[in-house]
Amino acid sequence: MSLHPRSSEITPRCLYEGRREWMKRLAAGALGTSLASWAARDALAQATALPGARSAVPGAMLMDKPTPKADASSYNNFYEFGTDKSDPARNAHTLKTRPWTVAVEGEVKKPKVFDLDELLKLSPMEERIYRLRCVEGWSMVIPWVGYSLAELIKRVEPTGNAKFVEFVTLADPKTMPFVGSRVLDWPYVEGLRLDEAVHPLSLLSFGMYGEVLPNQNGAPVRLVVPWKYGFKSGKSLVKIRFVDKQPRTAWVKAAAQEYGFYSNVNPKVDHPRWSQATERPIGDGGGIFAKKKPTLMFNGYEAQVGQLYAGMDLAKNF
Ligand code: MTE
Repeated sequence: MSLHPRSSEITPRCLYEGRREWMKRLAAGALGTSLASWAARDALAQATALPGARSAVPGAMLMDKPTPKADASSYNNFYEFGTDKSDPARNAHTLKTRPWTVAVEGEVKKPKVFDLDELLKLSPMEERIYRLRCVEGWSMVIPWVGYSLAELIKRVEPTGNAKFVEFVTLADPKTMPFVGSRVLDWPYVEGLRLDEAVHPLSLLSFGMYGEVLPNQNGAPVRLVVPWKYGFKSGKSLVKIRFVDKQPRTAWVKAAAQEYGFYSNVNPKVDHPRWSQATERPIGDGGGIFAKKKPTLMFNGYEAQVGQLYAGMDLAKNF
């Protein structure tokens, strides 16, 4: 197996390795002795409480049962630490999350480099239970802790030229072993239209399950955009740039015919190589034998975000 797969081959490789991971877990016997619990013990050792008050944002408190924390922190995509689902939990201990700053710049009246401690105090922490649907076909339900990205955006005052927001994540070859690889064009860059970025459901997240984010989930600060495929939710953010043109994101650069800029969860628009109509929930009783569930339009957030795309051809703007 090549260490540097062509990016167009990554996703099917992940699907395959995801399956292999579950087989390993099953082979290890009960989940109790598997990788999940190993990672959970590790996460527990680093854990620091970060409570959030129940969010009042419409749609933010999904009633679904959250995925067990041990699964959400051991089955991850964070390619800077490797492309196997278990790599981030195993490797991300090298990530140094302090000191940490996030530079907010570009088309704004008040550009500023925010220190992490400042960001943590910028707005009250809220708990939000969101569904995360990965483009690969699996999903989780995660109680995130953070506040609306709009809280940060309003403080920097975007100018009339700000049409899009670019999110740049850390690419440090010293602490991130796969940043030297050709898997993606580093740093991992994502983007949103400004109106998507200021939508109250777009979350700047610092924690999950009432604790600070485990490194493998994107510590110390990440984005969570619940109506889009998981890859739009950049981890370990270092820069937020307001720009007038649609940013070229890491996945668009890697395979534009497969990953569009919008990447809204849409069961009616298949990925060129597989259907997006159903998803496999990760967690208790999950794995390859888990019953698939139908994927919902905009991941179930259509009532909240559907109007952002009124009149757009979503098959063209995928
Ligand atoms: N952010 C960075 N910097 N690097 C990545 O590889 N993977 C994305 C996204 N954010 C990724 C990233 C993908 S494909 C998914 S599905 C989600 O993170 C997974 O988030 P989770 O591991 O917390 O569930």
